[in-house]
Amino acid sequence: MSFKVPANLRGATLANTEDRPDVKGWDGAISSITSALNGSYGESWLFICGPVGSGKTRLAAIFAQQAHASGLGWVMRWEPVQDIIEKLRPSDNLRKWRNKLVEADPLIIDDLGSEYASEWGRAEIERLISKRYDSRLMTVITSNLPFERIPEKYGERVADRLREISTVIELIGPSYRGRS
Ligand SMILES: Nc1ncnc2c1ncn2[C@@H]1O[C@H](COP(=O)(O)OP(=O)(O)OP(=O)(O)O)[C@@H](O)[C@H]1O
Ligand SMILES: [Mg+2]
Repeated sequence: MSFKVPANLRGATLANTEDRPDVKGWDGAISSITSALNGSYGESWLFICGPVGSGKTRLAAIFAQQAHASGLGWVMRWEPVQDIIEKLRPSDNLRKWRNKLVEADPLIIDDLGSEYASEWGRAEIERLISKRYDSRLMTVITSNLPFERIPEKYGERVADRLREISTVIELIGPSYRGRS
């Protein structure tokens, strides 16, 4: 597998994922992911937000691995946002790295909003989202930020594009971590 799903989520599938009746939005999340994998792939991006441990990264990993197994998209990339920013530091490889991010299909951006806030980083995220929006390439974003906070963090240009192109999955509930 050429994309790097976190090790603890390798092999996560809908079948081995527990129902979360205690998490508001969970059932809707499962339907949105199922439909993105069955027929409507690429019609709408997925923006998965919610508190720590609610299952955002797991849902993205299910999507990524199932999409890969079904041969959807051309070149899948999975990137924690901090790695995106880290690798965008000016270097000879900058343009190559930007292109990889812009052209990936699908691109999974894990933990948007957890990166160090700098004007330069914000501008890079804006550029990436806007290029991918223009080319309508499937993108899955997980974030601890509720969607309403996107404008203040990334600006209205990003928020407006995301609002139009995404299915917003908002999870509300306790962390799965540490359950007995
Ligand atoms: N419904 C579930 N069934 C089984 N395991 C789950 C479920 N939801 C979450 N987990 C497990 O709980 C842990 C936390 O889930 P996950 O990493 O998806 O949370 P998160 O919402 O991305 O949290 P964070 O905001 O901290 O990144 C992971 O080990 C994940 O596999
Ligand atoms: Mg996560």
